[in-house]
Amino acid sequence: MERTLTILKPDCVRKQLIGAVIDKIERAGFRIVTMKKTKLTTETAGEFYAVHRERPFFGELVEFMSSGPCVPMILEKENAVADFRELIGATDPAEAAEGTIRKLYADSKGENIVHGSDSAENACNEAAFFFSTEETVRVDR
Ligand code: PPS
Repeated sequence: MERTLTILKPDCVRKQLIGAVIDKIERAGFRIVTMKKTKLTTETAGEFYAVHRERPFFGELVEFMSSGPCVPMILEKENAVADFRELIGATDPAEAAEGTIRKLYADSKGENIVHGSDSAENACNEAAFFFSTEETVRVDR
């Protein structure tokens, strides 16, 4: 079993799509290990996306991700990282495959409904960013 980290982004929360997106995720066979509703600050959003610090859209990304509440979740499934990236589709919804979460619900490359970790190693670090070990273990099963 592999784990991945997703964030239902502020646009997902604002559009009241939390339930619809979770439905897609569970129907695709992912188990929700843990989840919560929280709000990033510009500081914590900048920390989470630090790898993109030098990219031209960094300021916009940080502003958007701290613009309202979001819902981080740890998901579990065989091949979770790759399968989740397939389920959500390309970063740009215009390029995302039919039926993917971003194709269905996202507006743009920036406001694209969900985040999905790009490797198992990053998933582990990103999960630790939002959830303590105690928090993850206590609510799991
Ligand atoms: S990827 O899949 O990581 O290679 O995608 P990438 O294009 O590198 O984008 C990384 C994250 O930055 C967000 N992004 C943007 N935000 C605001 N404005 C613009 N123009 C923009 N372009 C990309 C994108 O949604 C990715 O966020 P996450 O949460 O990692 O999916």
